[in-house]
Amino acid sequence: MKRNWWKESIVYQIYPRSFKDSNGDGIGDIKGIIEKLDYLKELGVNVLWLSPVFESPLDDNGYDISDYRKILGDYGTMADFNELIEKAHEKGLKILMDLVVNHTSDEHSWFVESKKSKENPYRDYYIWRYPKAGKEPNNWGATFGGSAWEYDNRTGMYYLHCFSKKQPDLNWENEAVRNDIYEMMNWWCEKGIDGFRMDVISMISKDQSFPEGKEYGGLYGDGSPYYMNGPRIHEYLQEMNREVLARHDIMTVGETAGVTIEEAKKYAGEDANELNMVFQFEHVSIGDGPYGKWTTNRYDFREYKKIMIKWQEELQGKAWNSLYLGNHDQPRSVSRFGDDSEEYREISAKMLATCIHMMQGTPYIYQGEEIGMTNAYFEDLTMYRDIESLQYYEELTGAKRMEPEEMMECLKLRSRDNARTPMQWNNKKNGGFTEGTPWINLNSNYSRINVERQMKERDSVFQYYKKLIRLRKENEVIVYGHFTAISRADEKIFAFKRELDEKRILVLCNYSKEATAFTIPEEFAIESGKIMISNYLAEECKKEMTLRPYEAVVFAFGS
Ligand code: NOJ
Repeated sequence: MKRNWWKESIVYQIYPRSFKDSNGDGIGDIKGIIEKLDYLKELGVNVLWLSPVFESPLDDNGYDISDYRKILGDYGTMADFNELIEKAHEKGLKILMDLVVNHTSDEHSWFVESKKSKENPYRDYYIWRYPKAGKEPNNWGATFGGSAWEYDNRTGMYYLHCFSKKQPDLNWENEAVRNDIYEMMNWWCEKGIDGFRMDVISMISKDQSFPEGKEYGGLYGDGSPYYMNGPRIHEYLQEMNREVLARHDIMTVGETAGVTIEEAKKYAGEDANELNMVFQFEHVSIGDGPYGKWTTNRYDFREYKKIMIKWQEELQGKAWNSLYLGNHDQPRSVSRFGDDSEEYREISAKMLATCIHMMQGTPYIYQGEEIGMTNAYFEDLTMYRDIESLQYYEELTGAKRMEPEEMMECLKLRSRDNARTPMQWNNKKNGGFTEGTPWINLNSNYSRINVERQMKERDSVFQYYKKLIRLRKENEVIVYGHFTAISRADEKIFAFKRELDEKRILVLCNYSKEATAFTIPEEFAIESGKIMISNYLAEECKKEMTLRPYEAVVFAFGS
């Protein structure tokens, strides 16, 4: 397998709005990030992915960009950004930008022009269609609720928006659009950034016949088969690779909703000349119902384990995995996949981290995950800020598909705002996030769960992450070792081994709160097993183990 710096990296995702406010306006900013670079260095990560910091009217918190070459005033200036790159680089930290090019904001000058007339040179920068039988061109629903088409009076046509109506989709069929985007990407690379996380990149190529979507019990049809992994997607990414990516030593990760293993090998294949790796969505979609993620179903461990094993085994040697449990669109990982009760929060957060960080792929830590931050569980609708949560609340309760109480329960478990509450730095006012009024409430548990406390405590989740990261840097087997699942049928324990030359490690993770017996297979020379890391005071390696609630232990064998 080829060695690459991005395979050996650990990425930390910053959601700038909620990371650190330096000027008291209640909104995180770039100077705030600069203040915390030493903290990130201490944690040990080496790549920082910034959720969008570009100019934006903030309909979707920055995933609606109105100028790709300007920094949003709330976050600071281009001079601040330049300082961030410089200081980060001085400390050996790389910066990934969030590239949102499936759509722009409707306030981007391209769209402002495009709307003016059918003849405008920018008309074809977006996807315009005539009404069909007096209605939308097809039945596709938008990801944030409602139709994916918005009618525009001026020219009597609809434009496509797979997300909110303030996020019109770009027309990638148009070569001028592609060239403008490549030019903008090269401009950022020349500025010194180190790569891109590519927002919904699997959606940029649409089936140009725009067929009706399948009815699935929701209010609109599902158009995703016609816009996810669309007909020209690989052609576009290969072109992007030639025009931009191959010209710089950068890292790329595609956010690829709807990606299958076969598709992932094309996007991120070792010699595919597209991207370095992709985010798959199968494990974070377990239990989704007729209204997608709006359900109170808990994930099923057996299904989760099957999915994780499948991605490990099938990409190995062919493409590279991104390893994640949380991000700004997902609930907090410990609340979703672990147990955020007082009793098990720390132990289960450490167990989840062990499992993810010991797999093959590049691990991603979402801000706050390294201290075991939990869902916010907001009780009142007025506490939510996220467009997706608010639009779906309206839509599903309005259409009487869900009772308000039921939808509130879904929000508590699945709203994106669970991950977007401010970072909990200390137990002082607003958790040390801001001197002002935070743009979104803090999680009320910040006096108990915060960075300052965990940096002092020897056994904290933070210290555990530090150790996991260090181990990865010191042991090639964790990065490049061959993955093999063990005891696939076990319904509580996720066990696997990694092997590289003479080195072998065995990873055992109990995903349940019951003490569970596990027999270490014959193939391991048990007496030589040394504990690499464990979230309990570990017992020595022996044939018959009993893993305590949410216990994780990694044994190393060989020289
Ligand atoms: C995926 C991003 O992660 C999410 O936050 C955003 O709302 C959509 N793409 C639209 O850009």
